Amino acid sequence: MAMTGVLRPGHAQVRVLNLEEAVRFYRDVLGLVETGRDTQGRVYFKCWDERDHNSYIIREADSAGIDFFAFKVLDRATLDRLEADLRAYGLATERIPAGELLETGERVRFELPSGHLIELYAEKKAIGNGIPTVNPAPWHGAREHGIAPVRLDHALLYGPDIAQVQKIFTEVLGFYLVERVLTPDGNGNAAIWLSCSHKVHDIAFAEYPEKGKLHHCSFMMESWEQVLRAGDIMSMNKVAVDIGPTRHGVTRGCTIYAWDPSGNRFETFMGGYQPYPDFEPLTWTFDNFGQGLDYPQRKLHETFLTVVT
Ligand SMILES: [Fe+2]
Repeated sequence: MAMTGVLRPGHAQVRVLNLEEAVRFYRDVLGLVETGRDTQGRVYFKCWDERDHNSYIIREADSAGIDFFAFKVLDRATLDRLEADLRAYGLATERIPAGELLETGERVRFELPSGHLIELYAEKKAIGNGIPTVNPAPWHGAREHGIAPVRLDHALLYGPDIAQVQKIFTEVLGFYLVERVLTPDGNGNAAIWLSCSHKVHDIAFAEYPEKGKLHHCSFMMESWEQVLRAGDIMSMNKVAVDIGPTRHGVTRGCTIYAWDPSGNRFETFMGGYQPYPDFEPLTWTFDNFGQGLDYPQRKLHETFLTVVT
């Protein structure tokens, strides 16, 4: 098997200000599938084409933002090995018991210098995507409900010391750097895009003075037409749109950024290219950050740099 170690983004837990308003938004506008609720009052969702029980969890709180972002690893032995590697690197880790999140096995949690809690886990119950695994149809009715992305794809997180964050992801967790934006003086990175796979990013970070901030969780659409349809549905539902539809220069992704009712930004996107770990990372100078963000308009939107939860 070529893919070992960290496989992919697994779940994000996001705070919302009004739970039922958020449930209506994520279920009926974004078109996620509600898969459960727990005794803490958390609500669990997955995208229609995802096979594991949950990928996006919301809980009601006084402030919006992200509690943690998690990656699924190959198996329990990989989980044990990565935890040992994190400790050997000098990071404290914590084991969250199996079942603390619905249908999810034991998790290894650690805090990045950027203030974000990252989790690794090996097991989450496969409930399927509603399509048989023998002679499967390409899609089913859930694809038509709301925006209906196919999967949780990545997150962009804002916080301090992303140079150290990059070292942890590349030297301990097996990620590689795909693209970066240099700082204005050119001596460091203002933002980094990291992959554990064949995707242009599985997670990204931007340097920011405050710890633990969420810029966006991103949901993948199947086509540019589906991104435009997402924009139609946002407007029909008076969703606050930030940027787009447009194309990023960074990653080449075609995108819309918008906000949920609590002010958490999310992205519906498609496209990009398929990097491999031997590719030389692509570099953007800070004066071209506007093209990197919004290639057609060449505009470094103020909200991109300043609005986070
Ligand atoms: Fe994104």
